[in-house]
Amino acid sequence: MMFKVPRGTKDLLPEETGKWQAVESLIRETCRLYRYEEIRTPIFEQTELFTRSVGDTTDIVQKEMYTFEDRGGRSLTLRPEGTAPVVRAFVEHKLFGSPDQPVKLYYMGQMFRYERQQAGRYRQFVQFGVEAIGSASPAIDAEVISLAMDVYQRAGLKDLKLVINSLGDKESREAHREALIRHFEPSIGEFCSDCQNRLQKNPLRILDCKVDREHPLMNSAPALTDYLNEGSAAYFGEVKKSLDALGIDYVVDPNLVRGLDYYNHTAFEIMSTSDGFGAITTLCGGGRYNGLSEDIGGPEAPGIGFAMSIERFLMALEAEGKMPETESRLDAFIVALDEESRKEAVKILGSLRREGIAADMDYMDRKMKAQMKAADRQKAGFVIVIGEDELKNGAAGVKNMADGTQETVEFGRLAETLKSRS
Ligand code: HAM
Repeated sequence: MMFKVPRGTKDLLPEETGKWQAVESLIRETCRLYRYEEIRTPIFEQTELFTRSVGDTTDIVQKEMYTFEDRGGRSLTLRPEGTAPVVRAFVEHKLFGSPDQPVKLYYMGQMFRYERQQAGRYRQFVQFGVEAIGSASPAIDAEVISLAMDVYQRAGLKDLKLVINSLGDKESREAHREALIRHFEPSIGEFCSDCQNRLQKNPLRILDCKVDREHPLMNSAPALTDYLNEGSAAYFGEVKKSLDALGIDYVVDPNLVRGLDYYNHTAFEIMSTSDGFGAITTLCGGGRYNGLSEDIGGPEAPGIGFAMSIERFLMALEAEGKMPETESRLDAFIVALDEESRKEAVKILGSLRREGIAADMDYMDRKMKAQMKAADRQKAGFVIVIGEDELKNGAAGVKNMADGTQETVEFGRLAETLKSRS
């Protein structure tokens, strides 16, 4: 029997993990510049956390969650997203009491959704996300958006499109909701059963239905922006002004609705416009979620954030030819010619590594030529040769692979010599 990686997941072999690490360190560095600090929450949470926050009429909750009962009879769910867990932690650890508000957090970790596998869509994927919790200032909306754009741009991406919209406050959303019901109700029989169920419960969700996407009533549906009350419109205006001040280009798309229920006011997505990018063009999505903290039993704490998957980030880098170069190189490779030399090599290897020199040797009893080839493959900067004569003299032959020069160096002075030559 042959075991395979589960559908919708993938192994990352060393060739790929180097690229991931490059992207991850760029992300961490950008977060440091914006003073977002890392938070790590568990991979699973109580199921109700997600049904309450993401919303029980959403695709995520209805179709995509990995939910299971543990041996104690509790219903747990592998996290499909990071916002609800972070807000849960914010409430549980009373971070609202910290003097530094808003609390600015970021996370990077596996998320799980039972989705149909296709390019850019996995059942296990890694999201990098940020959450700024505790401020209702439109300037923080712009900061969060600019952080997301910055991460992509620092990685060298150019084919990006930022799309923003406002979902308005509760009152605006209620007015829009009624308009949506009036719009869809006469023809709801032409829609899928999920949409029929959503009509009264949550008509906004009809707009992101994957089944009825092409129905003509979708395009003519009343736009949220037409139902914004004065306060919401003013808020949206301020967000746009802050984006302008930061020099960030955007397009307002009144049809942008997000697939999660906790959003209000600002919603945004960043798309790849690169030719080489697949059918799914959304790289990143986020928005404001005032009220989420209260919904899960916390105090009032308005928040905004986004998440992007590293998988799609790398797809965009590939499409634009900006994949980071990640050659792993070795400082030194020791070629040992016989049993006695190998023993000495083990000692020298230890001393080199203690001095911070990346070094390796052959453990397969290979002939000299094969060992030299291995040193080449591993892009060793120096090759240290030890044989009978070298052992006798207590000094090794050292070859500088960059320029081909050779010298003889006492065993005890190998580390300092290599350091001074590189
Ligand atoms: P989301 O739009 O569901 O939002 O997901 C955000 C991003 O996660 C997507 O734009 C995409 O990059 C990635 N993503 C989602 N599903 C998959 C998948 N199956 N395979 C690969 N990548 C995927 C959220 O998750 C919100 N929590 C974002 C947020 C944070 N809003 C406020 N704060």
